[in-house]
Parts: sequence; structure tokens; C-alpha cells
Amino acid sequence: MSMGVNRREFLAAGAAGVSASMLALGAEAAKPVGPKRPIVIASGNGLKTVAKAMELLRAGADPLDAAIAGVAIVEADPEDHTVGYGGIPNEEGVVELDAAVMHGPTHGGGSVASLRNIMHPAAVARVVMKRTDHCLLVGEGALKFARAHGFEEINLLTPDARKIWLHWKETNGKDSDWIAPPFDELDEVVKKFFGIRKHGTIHCSALDTHGDLGCTTTTSGLFYKIPGRVGDSPILGAGLWLDNEVGSAGSTGRGEANLLNLSSHTIVEELRRGRDPKDAVLEACKHIVATNKNPRLRDPKGRPNFNVSFYCVAKDGRYAGAALYAGGKMAVHDGDDAKLVDMAALYDMKNPE
Ligand code: GLY
Repeated sequence: MSMGVNRREFLAAGAAGVSASMLALGAEAAKPVGPKRPIVIASGNGLKTVAKAMELLRAGADPLDAAIAGVAIVEADPEDHTVGYGGIPNEEGVVELDAAVMHGPTHGGGSVASLRNIMHPAAVARVVMKRTDHCLLVGEGALKFARAHGFEEINLLTPDARKIWLHWKETNGKDSDWIAPPFDELDEVVKKFFGIRKHGTIHCSALDTHGDLGCTTTTSGLFYKIPGRVGDSPILGAGLWLDNEVGSAGSTGRGEANLLNLSSHTIVEELRRGRDPKDAVLEACKHIVATNKNPRLRDPKGRPNFNVSFYCVAKDGRYAGAALYAGGKMAVHDGDDAKLVDMAALYDMKNPE
């Protein structure tokens, strides 16, 4: 990337954290702005993400670089407990991050899984894509790779996330010797999380002014997961997929269900067949329902007892989101403003957990 406004934008996109300067690593030089209407979509926690990505697209940034800078805001946010810094840790109290990227013009992809100590895993995934002959690095290998490229290490476990994890540990298991304090004595942030065990993630897809696509999905994964557990987010075809001639898609929610269906790939293939974006994302939801055979994962009506959400943008700028259960919203910037829009759903019930 050339020095100038865009580089400053990228540096500003991260929080004040030490890893912020690494956000520019592997980013493309800005191009002259093209004639097409740009669109950025993200999952529901992504209003700032789509605004930042759109700002960069308007300045000529590559669509993947814009998406990475957009999600970096959430990765650096200590109050978002589902992504990056401040993410809820694994069962041992260690934050492990997963992220992937795909770049439309080159059909490149890169990802990292179970990455510790690095605030911006999506930026590391871009370096995997650009500076290795591989698509996926995991665990210690991913950390060593990030270090080799100069990503600085920090403790990703914030005081709030530690307290939330500690309360889970103190209340988890009938034979445990850990003892929780009375509910009234808990911190407010812990009370808010009491009884919640879920997946949080952010996906962002960007369509630039030349009609080129880029996307990323980044997460701290399932709260209190078994160390080493990896969900769908860093798996190309599952947590995200794109074809620069067709469209881009991604997901949030129960990653295991998506891994068993490779739903983002399905969505892009549905778009290729001429399906409307809304029908394409609903089709992925239907696949999840049809393949969810495990009684442990079905409610008394036979429906999944979890949620999964999908987001897509087609090459022509049409977009949609859908979830198994109603109530979800996605963030969209259509070139005019950033807004939350309702997603379609298969079932009319909110947030089964
Ligand atoms: N979808 C995020 C995860 O399952 O980890």
C-alpha cells in the first residue's frame, strides 16, 4: 500500500493496540475508484464494520482489505466478547481465535485457527494467503508465523472476559471444588452472561466499485470451548466463500452445523444457478435442518435447537441474510448509509439456546 490517506486509514482502523500497525501488512495499493455502486454487508454486530469498509472502498481500497479493516474494529473492541480481544476464552481461560479471508480477483484464500495472543487474526489470515503456499495454519504454527511477520503478542483475555469465564468455571460441574459467590455479589458483566453459552462471530463481505469481491470471517468461537476446538469460521467453503464472478457469502452461529454442510459454498453455487440472494441463504438454512439428524440437537418438534445465520452479496449488489430462527439483523452499507436490516428466517422463534 502506498503511503498516504489509505495507509493512515488502515492504521486508524484498529484500536490503539500494538497490533494496529500490522493491519496494513499485505494490503494492496489503492486503485482509482470505479463506476459501480459498492456494497458492504456484515453480521449484526457490524455497523461500524460496514461504515469503515465503505469509507475505504470509496478511497479505492481492495475489497478484502476494506473488509479486514472493518472487522478489525470489532476484533479490537474489548466489549465485544465474541471476536478478537475480549473474546470469551476456552475452558482453560485462554482466548483462541479463528479467522479466514477470501479475495475475489485472485480467488485466493487464507485462514488461521486456534491462534492465541494476536489481536487481528483476519490480518494474519491475509498474510497466510499472500506469503505462504498454504491456505490454513493452526495453533502454535499459526502463532509462530504471525510472530515471524511481526505481529505483536498481547494477552487477549480482558478482565471482564476473565470474570465471565471464572463464573462459568465456578458453576460448571457438580463435583467441582470451585465455589461461586452469591449472585448478588457478581459483577454486572458476569450477571449479563449468566447461563449464556453461544457462538459469536463477525462476517463481512465487500463489493467494490469495480465489481470485485472480498470477504472475511473472524471469531473467538464457542464460549468455554475445548482447547483446540475449531468452528466453521476459518474453513473456506463453510464460514465464508466467494467466487468473484458470482457473489460472496459467510456465516455466524453453530459452526459444527455449518461444517457438516459447507453452507457458504452452497449459497454461492445457488447464486450461480440464478437464485435470488434471499432464496440462496434460505436454501442453506434448509440444508442445515435436513441434515440435523442428531436427537441431542433437535427440539421436541424436530427442529434444530441452535441457530445459524447466513449473509450474502451477489456480484450485481443484491444482498440478503437468513437464519434458522427469526429476529436476526444484518449490517449493510449500500453506498448511502450504514443500517441494520431484518434477515429472513425459516422459523418464527427467537434465539433458541
Ligand atoms: N461460527 C463460529 C463458531 O462456531 O466458532
